[in-house]
Amino acid sequence: MGILQGKKGIIFGALDANSIAWKVALKAKQEGAVFTLTNAPVALRMGTIQELAAQCEAIVIPADATSVADVESLFDQSMEVLGGKVDFILHSIGMSPNVRKGKPYTDLNYDFYLKTLDISAGSLHKVLQTAYKKDAINDWGSVVALTYIAAQRAFPFYGDMADAKATLESIARSFGYHYGVRNKVRVNTVSQSPTVTTAGSGIKGFDDFFAYADMGSPLGNASAEDCANFCVALFSDLTKMVTMQNLFHDGGFSATGISTVLMDKMGKHE
Ligand SMILES: NC(=O)c1ccc[n+]([C@@H]2O[C@H](COP(=O)([O-])OP(=O)(O)OC[C@H]3O[C@@H](n4cnc5c(N)ncnc54)[C@H](O)[C@@H]3O)[C@@H](O)[C@H]2O)c1
Repeated sequence: MGILQGKKGIIFGALDANSIAWKVALKAKQEGAVFTLTNAPVALRMGTIQELAAQCEAIVIPADATSVADVESLFDQSMEVLGGKVDFILHSIGMSPNVRKGKPYTDLNYDFYLKTLDISAGSLHKVLQTAYKKDAINDWGSVVALTYIAAQRAFPFYGDMADAKATLESIARSFGYHYGVRNKVRVNTVSQSPTVTTAGSGIKGFDDFFAYADMGSPLGNASAEDCANFCVALFSDLTKMVTMQNLFHDGGFSATGISTVLMDKMGKHE
């Protein structure tokens, strides 16, 4: 029996086969879950999500996660298709127009900035508040959103996404309290290593900081597949009492000061 046998879910953010959400969907299917897949209408046109849908025997429901009307309709349709409330939700959404257009943190366009915050953080609140009002998540359900360590430490090339991730983690904590009290629903963020995906590779200097993180982590960078395994564990009943946490899934990077590999690179280590 898979650890998600009998569980229903909604997975946001599978764009192509590199997406972390894509790997989570495959793993969730393998563990026995049924779910709907969703992404922004524009991403559905550009990506290859229908291939994933076929593999997972899932329906794709378009929804711009910044539109409350879209998110409401997504929950209504998902509950209809799945035959009831959901048990898990993956929020795997991130986009910064400033980063995309090469605007550094010291020269932000503020219209873009609001979009970054709305898409990459506010959307989690919209998903949670919609679910809460519709009572769309079963008791002991689990919501996971993906984040990055730039919420805690400065990574200059991550731009305004750092602010969005700090907000995202705060929303998970704050909503996790309210949803926990009412329905025992758990809300956590997973802080993932740099991963080669469309969103990841869009960051300037990504290759260098991918290599730096890999060398600075005792276990090396965590892959998207490893991340999928962790998310599925968090959706399962095996992690029932974990909520309101930001969980580092990064091979030990967040707890390492400097590694001998990096010191060797600097040529000063005996
Ligand atoms: N790749 C990395 O290095 C890395 C590291 C840590 C955390 N993360 C986080 O993981 C998550 C998934 O990113 P990924 O690396 O798989 O890249 P990805 O580009 O495959 O996924 C990002 C997704 O966000 C979706 N999206 C953008 N705007 C949207 C909107 N308005 N409504 C609905 N969906 C929208 C995109 O269509 C895409 O599917 C993001 O939150 C990202 O910040 C990524």
